[in-house]
Amino acid sequence: MNRIDAAAHTRGESRFVDDMPLPSGMLYASVFSSPVMHGNIRNLHVQEARLAKGVVAVLTWENIPGENQIGSIIQDEELLAKGTVHYIGQPIAVVVAESQEIAKKAAKKISIEIEELPAVTDPKEAFEKGYIIGAPRTFALGNVDSMWQKCDLVVEGSCDIGGQEHVYLETQRSRAVPLEGENIRIYSATQSPSAVQHHVAKILGLASHSVEVEVKRLGGGFGGKEDQATPWACMAALAAWATQRPVELVLSRADDIKMTGKRHPYKSDFKIGATKEGIVLAYEVKHYQNSGATADLSTAVLERTMFHSTNCYYIPHVRIFGACCRTNLPSNTAFRGFGAPQGMFAIESAITKLAEKLTMPREEIQAKNLLAEGREFPYGQTAAHCSIRSVWEMAETKYYLQRIQKQAHQFNQSHFETKKGVAVMPVCFGISFTTTYLNQASALVHIFTDGSVSVSTGGVEMGQGLTTNITAIAAKAFGINPGRIKVECTNTTRIANMSPSAASATTVLNGNALILAINQILDRLKTFLVQELSVSGKEEFSIIDEKVVYDGNDTGWTWDQLIHGAYLKRIDLSAHGFFATPKICFATTKEKGHPFAYHVYGAAIIEITLDCLRGSYDIDSVKIVHDLGRPLDDIVDRAQIEGGLAQGLGWMALEDLRFNDKGQLLSRDLATYKVPDAHFMPDDIEVEFLKNEKGSIGPYGSKAVGEPPFMYGIGVFFATRNAMRAFRPDIDFNFASPLTPERVLLQLHPE
Ligand code: MTE
Ligand code: HPA
Ligand code: MOS
Repeated sequence: MNRIDAAAHTRGESRFVDDMPLPSGMLYASVFSSPVMHGNIRNLHVQEARLAKGVVAVLTWENIPGENQIGSIIQDEELLAKGTVHYIGQPIAVVVAESQEIAKKAAKKISIEIEELPAVTDPKEAFEKGYIIGAPRTFALGNVDSMWQKCDLVVEGSCDIGGQEHVYLETQRSRAVPLEGENIRIYSATQSPSAVQHHVAKILGLASHSVEVEVKRLGGGFGGKEDQATPWACMAALAAWATQRPVELVLSRADDIKMTGKRHPYKSDFKIGATKEGIVLAYEVKHYQNSGATADLSTAVLERTMFHSTNCYYIPHVRIFGACCRTNLPSNTAFRGFGAPQGMFAIESAITKLAEKLTMPREEIQAKNLLAEGREFPYGQTAAHCSIRSVWEMAETKYYLQRIQKQAHQFNQSHFETKKGVAVMPVCFGISFTTTYLNQASALVHIFTDGSVSVSTGGVEMGQGLTTNITAIAAKAFGINPGRIKVECTNTTRIANMSPSAASATTVLNGNALILAINQILDRLKTFLVQELSVSGKEEFSIIDEKVVYDGNDTGWTWDQLIHGAYLKRIDLSAHGFFATPKICFATTKEKGHPFAYHVYGAAIIEITLDCLRGSYDIDSVKIVHDLGRPLDDIVDRAQIEGGLAQGLGWMALEDLRFNDKGQLLSRDLATYKVPDAHFMPDDIEVEFLKNEKGSIGPYGSKAVGEPPFMYGIGVFFATRNAMRAFRPDIDFNFASPLTPERVLLQLHPE
């Protein structure tokens, strides 16, 4: 099967929010936002903007008919600032005009008087001042405090982990269309149509059934549209409601980078203790998450950081502390990996420092401490169907790890200003939303009398290949040609109470719901066949390649005949399916439970070559073994692995968010904020699937794949560090990311 949308994407025919035909009377919105990090609004002057030619309305919090609140987990976020602003780019007013240009120009005519207040941008400083969101949390296993004395070596250190801008190709956007009566329809580029529905209803003071949200596809989300597509949809809705005309709000790239949240930067302090043989006995880590100005999804992100703080290692004595620290930056949010990358970077840093002090290869300590079947994670779940050791061994043998290391060593002996570095990055990632109740999904299936099939689910296509996966599942479950299946756009009127498309679980959850819906229809069709063919064994029927088969024999009935016949006998050809992941739970009172349906494992070997005089480096190769289950579509999954890797490499090596002391983002466009390109990517990427269905909860033995490969990218940091150590073994390099060429250079030549 080809990727469903590949041809239309390539031809530029695929429609995104602002490619839809213009409705008559459409207006355009532009947002006026806070110029300072923190302050009390004394006066807002909108009159000049309001009177500008072509401006239809200028809206502030006073024009909100419902509640001025869009906080998802904690109610701490105003749609439009009322009294106090907390970050640069915080929306204050919405200008609505006849064209986008007029709206933008008019927004510049708004002026504001603000009494500035002190601002905080550092998470540890915020923590010390008591600016925290939710309660700090601690996960514990064994007894760390009693162990330090029993270790042959204890090392401590700290990480300064950078954030990351999503750079989805399609910036945030939404179109709102008022309908007859008290109703409104929103076209939004959101990963969470139901969240948009809920918050638009709240802002406008409507019932949820009055708000219809439709999503065709996103030009990338990567977590940046899980929670943060909501405000722009709400502003478009507010403007449409006030003017009773369709309104579109599209953020420019510059505004998007300035106003929206990013991956959370962290400061993390670690302490790790081991025997002289390199067996890790104890690990303690304290994570200070830079949450930004509001809660958004920060508490859930922190929780996943804590779940993944020991990555794929078994450590018998662990204490993990985490706090969400409120700062005066745009609220940081979900981003591929959802906190796990930061937790994994910290443990990998700790292991690295330990290895350096023990003068033992990093890989030796990693391999000695890998999880084994039945071992307990610090959050209470035990490792089941744990493949990390076989993944590691496969990577080691298939890619000749020792040979790569030996060759790098030899290269380094014979080269002075160029050094090679190698690192292995193993990954263990839990599959399920960490918020247990979100692990539910539903699907709606119709078969039309011509045998064509319409499928709706709560999943959003964001480039990850969901439509292809859903089509493959429906075709397989019915036993018909994929060409019969149409996957509908995602719409809140067809599917209610959707969880966001996130946590890598969209195919797992929605695909299972789809199969449950299809099975209901198949059951009815088989009952019909039993009567028509006067046989007894309903279960003996199956549909293979559009042919009805009974006990292995072709009955002569085709799919077309079956559907037409069933329709004439008044059989219901529609069904709704609902899936909830079984057996998952988590008790925050004890910080123990079984939060994940299963874990995905994998390992990558990364090799780089460093120019020690310039600090620049090339990634020579990334070689991956990934435990995938049985892919629904090899190409879709391979694309997710390569794309995730690219994003992870960029996070660790290139993408540098720099602010000045006024809190203004300096790297606010793609000239100063570097993202991976073809030239940056490794010359050689190899991916080996370990097709292992064990532990999968379906559909058809597939496993979630969207986020785990991101974390292979972390290896580039440690490979580069190894090359740096080959040049300057005397320096104790830091654990600050991204490890840009500039940072490499300054550390190699500190004098
Ligand atoms: N791949 C593409 N092309 N575009 C995206 O926006 N989002 C990532 C990942 N892969 C994303 C992507 C993130 S953050 C998640 S959680 C998953 O896809 C979501 O989709 P899934 O649940 O279907 O894996
Ligand atoms: N991933 C994405 N979104 C979420 C999660 C998660 O694990 N938990 C709650 N929201
Ligand atoms: Mo992905 S960060 O769960 O949208």
